[in-house]
Amino acid sequence: MCDAANNVIILTLHHLGESIRIKTFHGQYHSLMSLIVDQLAIPGFGLCCGMGSCGTCLVQITDRYSPVKRNVLACAIHINNELANTDIIVPDWVY
Ligand code: FES
Repeated sequence: MCDAANNVIILTLHHLGESIRIKTFHGQYHSLMSLIVDQLAIPGFGLCCGMGSCGTCLVQITDRYSPVKRNVLACAIHINNELANTDIIVPDWVY
């Protein structure tokens, strides 16, 4: 859900069998990786701090229009309206 009036973006994080609904807004975090680090505090996640070199921030994204999961580096994903209504699957183990 994206409320254009106040720029609220709602997405769902899935991790360790739990689903956590997150309410954020454009620009609140530098990237999806920063949001996940803040919300889930997973040890080892985002080791290179968003430099795109470690691969520890790999997640899967699905949206309401397609059941297909896309593998993405969370540090390369900006917090914007494209994340509205998405499901973000965070692996149980960080490599
Ligand atoms: S934080 Fe290292 S690749 Fe994304």
